[in-house]
Amino acid sequence: EAAEKGGYEHFMMKEIHEQPAAVRDTISPRLKDGKIDLSELALDEEAIRTVRRVYIIGCGSAYHVGMAARYVFESLARLPVEVDVASEFRYRNPVLEKDSLALVISQSGETADTLAALRLCKERGVRTIGIVNVVGSSIAREADATMYTWAGPEISVATTKAYSTQLAACYLLATEFARVRGTLVDGQYENLVAEMEALPDKIEKILADKERIQWFASKYANAKDAFFIGRGLDYATALEGSLKFKEISYIHSEAFAAGEMKHGPISLVENGTLVVGILTQPDLFEKSVSNMVEVKSRGAFLMGLTTYGNYSIEDTAGFTVYVPKTDPHFATSLAVIPLQLLAYYVSCAKGLDVDKPRNLAKSVTVE
Ligand code: G6P
Repeated sequence: EAAEKGGYEHFMMKEIHEQPAAVRDTISPRLKDGKIDLSELALDEEAIRTVRRVYIIGCGSAYHVGMAARYVFESLARLPVEVDVASEFRYRNPVLEKDSLALVISQSGETADTLAALRLCKERGVRTIGIVNVVGSSIAREADATMYTWAGPEISVATTKAYSTQLAACYLLATEFARVRGTLVDGQYENLVAEMEALPDKIEKILADKERIQWFASKYANAKDAFFIGRGLDYATALEGSLKFKEISYIHSEAFAAGEMKHGPISLVENGTLVVGILTQPDLFEKSVSNMVEVKSRGAFLMGLTTYGNYSIEDTAGFTVYVPKTDPHFATSLAVIPLQLLAYYVSCAKGLDVDKPRNLAKSVTVE
C-alpha cells in the first residue's frame, strides 16, 4: 500500500497532488487548435441551440460541482439551470421540459440515487450527459452520452481530484454553450480557453505553499465548530470546503451564503469560532467583507481566502490565503485547494483515519 501512495502518507494527499495532471488530462483532449471539441458527446451546434434549460444532478461533492456550474452556465451561456441533490430529485416530481439537458455528475458512476435520477430524466424524454470518472460504470453506460473525467482511480473517500475534474468538464460545456449561443463578448471565448488551460499550473502553485496551511490547521484541530461563508460562486466553494472539513476532521461545520449569516447562523458565533470567508468574486468582495466584519465583531476568528491583490482583506482576517487570479468563473478550481488542505491537515493533526472516515463509503449504492 505504501507504494500505491507514491511516497505520501495518505491517498488523499497523493490525490490532492494529482489534481494539476488530472485537470489537464480532462481539458487538453477536448481542445483542438484552441477550440473546444465536444464531438465525443454528439452534441453539435444545432443540438446545443435547442437546449432551453439545464438540470444538474449529483450527490455530495458532485452536487457541489453542480452548484458551482450553475453560476458558470447561467453567467456565460445565459441558460436557466436547476441543480438538485439526486436523492431529492425524484421526490419533487420535477417538471421536466423536453428541450432540456440533464448533466448527471458522479465519480463512481454507481451512486444509487444519481442513477435513479438519470433514469427518470430518460423516461421523461430529457437528453442526458453523464460526467463520470469510472469507465464503463452504470451511469456511463446508461446516459445518452458520457463525458469522462480523466482523474484516474480515486481511493480516498473524501474526493479531491474527481471534484476538480468534474468542474473542468462543466467549464468546457458552459463555455462551448456560450460560444454557440452567442452570449460572449469579443475575445472572451479565447480568454476563457486560455484561463482553463492555465488552471493546472496555478493549482500547482497553490500546492507549493501548503506548509502555511498546515501550520494554521494545527491551531484549529480542537475547534468545536467552523463556518464557511461566501457569496455567488464563492458560496458553492464554501459548501465543498465545509463538507471536506466535517467529513474528515469530525468538527461540526456548515456553509452559509454570507448574506444569510444575520438571519440566524450568526447566533452560533462565539469567541474564537473559526469562520472561513471565501472572496474570489470581484463584484461581491466588499459585500462579503462586510459580512465578515459582522461575524468578527461577535468574536469570530477569520480566515480569508481571496485572490492575490486583494490585500485589504488583512484588515479584517486574522489569517489569509491568496490564490492566483483566474477568470472569476473558474475561481472555485483554485479556492478549493487550500480548503482541501485545511481539512486534510486538521484531520492529520487529530490523528484520524484521513482516507477512511468513520461511517462513510466511497460509493453509496443504496438509496
Ligand atoms: C459519497 C462520497 C462523496 C461523493 C458522493 C457521490 O458520499 O463519499 O465523496 O461526493 O458519494 O459519489 P459519486 O461517486 O456519485 O460522485
